[in-house]
Parts: sequence; C-alpha cells; structure tokens
Amino acid sequence: MNPTAQRAPIVLAVSGASAQPLAQRALQLLLQADEQVELVVSRGAIGVWQAELGIRVPSEPEAQERFWRERTACGSGTLLCHRWNDQAAAIASGSHRTRGMVILPCSMGAVGRIAAGVATDLLERCADVHLKEGRPLVICPRETPWNLVHLRNLTALAEAGARIAPPVPAWYHRPTSLEEMVDFLVIRIFDNLGMSLGDLRRWEGPAGPPPA
Ligand SMILES: Cc1cc2nc3c(=O)[nH]c(=O)nc-3n(C[C@H](O)[C@H](O)[C@H](O)COP(=O)(O)O)c2cc1C
Repeated sequence: MNPTAQRAPIVLAVSGASAQPLAQRALQLLLQADEQVELVVSRGAIGVWQAELGIRVPSEPEAQERFWRERTACGSGTLLCHRWNDQAAAIASGSHRTRGMVILPCSMGAVGRIAAGVATDLLERCADVHLKEGRPLVICPRETPWNLVHLRNLTALAEAGARIAPPVPAWYHRPTSLEEMVDFLVIRIFDNLGMSLGDLRRWEGPAGPPPA
C-alpha cells in the first residue's frame, strides 16, 4: 500500500439496524488506534439509538463530534462527523481519498438502496462511491431471518465487490461477557480491511493454547 493511501481516513457508517453498541465500540477502537475516522450516522440510526438506548445523537457535525468524544472517552485519532443528508460532503466524491468504508450495522433498507444504486443520503452515496472506485466496502447486515429480497440484494453487493460481513458471534474464543463478544465481532469485521484493532483469542487449532 502506498504511504498516501495509508494516511487516508476510514469511513465508519452507521445505519438504522439493531446493534448500535457495535458501532460505538468500533469508533472507540478506531480512535484509540489513532486512526482518522469519517463518521456518518443515518437518520434511521439516530432513531434506533433513541429506541434502543434512550440516547439522542445530535445531527449537526460539531455537536456530534463532541458527543462521540465524550461517549467514547477518547481524545486520540481524528474524528470528522457528517450530517446524514450532506451529499456535498467530501466523502460523497470519489476524488476524496479513503482507505475503505464499513457499514456497521447495515439495515436491509440501506442494503436494498445501495444494491439498486439509489443514493438517498450520504451513507448510500458514499457506499456507491466506494463500489465505483473499487475501494473496500464492508457491509455488516443485521436482520434475521433474511428473505429472498435481502439475499438477492446482498448477492448483488457481493458481485459488485462489497465484502458481506454480518456480525455473527462465535464461541471458540470462549467469551465470558457481552463486552468480549462485542470486541470479537468488531475486531473480526475490521480484519476485512487488514486492520488490527485489538488482541483477539484467535483459533489456533485444537492443540492451541488453552483459554485463560
Ligand atoms: C429499534 C429498531 C431496531 C431496528 N432494527 C433493524 C434491523 O436490525 N435491521 C433492519 O434492517 N432494520 C431495522 N430497523 C428498521 C430501520 O431502522 C428502518 O428500516 C430505517 O428506515 C432504516 O434507515 P436507514 O437505512 O436509512 O438507516 C429497526 C428499527 C428500530 C426502531
């Protein structure tokens, strides 16, 4: 990878599916790793934050940056928040360099609109840009069960070059808390971008080290 690409930001996009705590932990780990993060939270996600956790995420970028800095208790890295419908933001253009984009979690609505090439907000436009530029796009769909329309849309996105990485837990690392499970899911998702966001008890075969 060339040095310019290495310095480019990661886009973290959050849509209105359940599992907002995964997005918050991803943001925290990225900032702790001193990454440059461009964050876009969809209007639907703002509603889910409110419904799931009783938290009001501000729409305006400056207020949102203060909000996330406080919530993640992290002052490192750089954080640039975008308004959900600001399609004039730099990340809406392919000329703006990024290292890739992760949509965590990704609603079935966003999956469908991105698969159809319809960009009704910044998140969808930015995903469209990553596909057209051939840059890494990791989509973490959260719904169960998937109907045939969901499966076809996800297939179309995989065919267009996206990586489909649903946040599905594993037990081989022997989690003892929800926090451990969340970290496992987030770190495995960012594995898809070749990033190491933390230590993980990875499977080393049945003869590997016994769990602590
Ligand atoms: C509490 C709550 C949880 C939701 N969970 C999901 C979900 O897991 N997956 C999904 O596709 N939609 C879910 N929805 C519906 C989406 O939020 C809704 O379709 C929304 O329009 C998506 O907006 P967005 O795609 O612009 O983010 C949920 C809604 C609420 C209020």
